[in-house]
Amino acid sequence: MDFQHVQVERDGPIGIVTLNRPKQLNALSYDLVKELSLAMESFDRDEEIRVIILTGGEKVFAAGADIKEMADAGPFDEVLQGRLRNRDKVNRISKPVIAAVSGYALGGGCELAMSCDLIIAAETARFGQPEMNIGTIPGSGGTQRMTRTIGKYRAMEMVLLGDSIDAATAERWGLVNRVVPVENLLEDAKATARKIAAKSPLAVKLAKEAIQKSLNTPLDEGLDFERKSFYLLFGSEDRKEGMKAFTEKRKPEFKGR
Ligand code: CAA
Repeated sequence: MDFQHVQVERDGPIGIVTLNRPKQLNALSYDLVKELSLAMESFDRDEEIRVIILTGGEKVFAAGADIKEMADAGPFDEVLQGRLRNRDKVNRISKPVIAAVSGYALGGGCELAMSCDLIIAAETARFGQPEMNIGTIPGSGGTQRMTRTIGKYRAMEMVLLGDSIDAATAERWGLVNRVVPVENLLEDAKATARKIAAKSPLAVKLAKEAIQKSLNTPLDEGLDFERKSFYLLFGSEDRKEGMKAFTEKRKPEFKGR
């Protein structure tokens, strides 16, 4: 596919999507978000790809929805253009998605990072929900995922004050997995991706689904889902191979079957 606002590359089992509107600090325009969702969905369908990295490059992750584009929009422009509908597709990717965040991850950019399964931040990263500063509120998870991730009081502070926090604070608050020097960001994300890619893709998929389920269901229902997914994996060749390899003291070779 030919994209204008995102770059797509592959490195073995890793699909890398890079937001590519650097002059506008990767502001999430209607077109960018549409391309983003197409690129992510295409990697999700691709059997050779096991993990996806989403990044904005070394300077900036994304400074939020494109304010200039939204400035004169009415509610139906947003509905018809489908920015948030397309954004939501990123939440529905079944493979693990790692956000590699450097520089600003603000508003929709912060929400985009929070849609991912792991967040690796460069020391330069800054996270924030500054929508309050422009007379609105977060629209794609900033009040919901943020609160579930860092708790009510910190979420209130982030959203009501509209200030941003640095990478060290984000790590302390549990908003990111770890912080690395900017020059190591992509390599660190790739090393993490390669580790996941070496596991059984079936088990990885079900584990991701089960963890996501825990955010939306009562405990009993989540435990039930987990148990049934565990039983289901007894039908996979990968599960047999994993346990056989353990007893034979060798590395397993998972085939995704
Ligand atoms: N939308 C559109 N353009 C943006 C943008 C955005 N969110 N963020 C930055 N830009 C543009 C700037 O207008 C500027 O363009 P020009 O050169 O044409 O003037 C260019 O990117 C560089 O930005 P700055 O000159 O402002 O760079 P800076 O280093 O001085 O400041 C910044 C960086 C603090 C991130 C500042 O750009 C900023 O505050 N941006 C807006 C952040 C924001 O409010 N995001 C939330 C948007 S609303 C949202 O996200 C809601 C949702 O998803 C549902």
